[in-house]
Amino acid sequence: MNLFDVYPLYDITPVKGTGVYVYEENGTEYLDLYGGHAVISIGHSHPAYTKAICEQVGKLGFYSNSIHNPLQDELAEKLEKASGIKDYSLFLCNSGAEANENALKLASFHTGKSRIIYFENAFHGRTSGVVAVTDNETIKAPFNTHNPVTKLAFEDLKGLEEALAKKEVAAVIFEVIQGVGGLDEATTEFYRSTSELCKKYKTVLIADEVQSGYGRTGDFFAFMKHGIRPDIISIAKGMGNGFPIGGVLIDHSIQAKYGLLGTTFGGNHLACAAGIAVLDVIEKENLQQNAKDLFEYVKLKSAEIPQIKRLKGRGLMIGLEFDFEIAALRKELLFNHRVFTGASSNKKLLRILPPLNIEKEHFDRFFEALKIALANQSK
Ligand SMILES: Cc1ncc(COP(=O)(O)O)c(C=O)c1O
Repeated sequence: MNLFDVYPLYDITPVKGTGVYVYEENGTEYLDLYGGHAVISIGHSHPAYTKAICEQVGKLGFYSNSIHNPLQDELAEKLEKASGIKDYSLFLCNSGAEANENALKLASFHTGKSRIIYFENAFHGRTSGVVAVTDNETIKAPFNTHNPVTKLAFEDLKGLEEALAKKEVAAVIFEVIQGVGGLDEATTEFYRSTSELCKKYKTVLIADEVQSGYGRTGDFFAFMKHGIRPDIISIAKGMGNGFPIGGVLIDHSIQAKYGLLGTTFGGNHLACAAGIAVLDVIEKENLQQNAKDLFEYVKLKSAEIPQIKRLKGRGLMIGLEFDFEIAALRKELLFNHRVFTGASSNKKLLRILPPLNIEKEHFDRFFEALKIALANQSK
């Protein structure tokens, strides 16, 4: 049987990973500045993480959500402590799209309304509800095009109030820093006003922190910089360092009841063991601070390269913007210098999403490679 061919593939086969590096069978080493799309938070094969998962699967890997699972409570407690947010409950699931699906469904149940507002360049996932609030028509099937949704320009407060005033909106969903869309972040005034408007019109505010959460920006959640309190926060990617786990953080004003949400695999023992290990390592190794510190270093290093026209993002969610399309540059970095980087819907933006335990010397290696690759590009 062939695999369903939905991904263009690089001719690279990593079989092993350690820290910020991945390796092919023949020993070829790649510097991973992409983290498998912002997923690797504490580094490949972190020993504490590997130990926790191995021990847990040797005890109990899975049982359904119809029994007590103290690992879920431990994960929720640690998440509250690490993030510092209070008065939320946690629903566990398996991926970013699933977290956002549950967030939208919950908002609709809670308000009794159906319309969702989203923003230009947003990416919230590929499953049927969330793809309808993703700004990419090419990934929507006819089945996904009839949902009651409204797309607004990022920062369009006037349009937002007009739409909310119709009183048919269940939720407003945004990424505080757009990932796939190209690292745009609105002003604090926009986030605060959006939050106030949502309160005024009794609409649920959903912060999609699937990519920007878990310390990646130097804050535990990217919204924290703007002093807002979303009603729902969706999380995934860095949460399991590669083990599939997602979650929805739900403000206490939204009431739970049996049957509202559910999942077979979400919150299983093995996923919780992975999630707990990730939070322990983030705390022990002070990785949030590392993300902050290394962004300052990246600022200095990028200032030395005139071809970088703009540095976007914060922490270790970084975009380097050039005045030319970067597809060839990315290929050169990968095949000639063995450095993984990312792209976005902004074709001039190189995305950097490394493990949060990356060090200055890794960035030194990257910037040296970038200088050589840029010189070759201009030949
Ligand atoms: C902000 C954001 N939300 C949701 C998703 C979807 O997550 P998943 O691929 O785990 O379904 C992504 C994935 O890139 C994302 O970046």
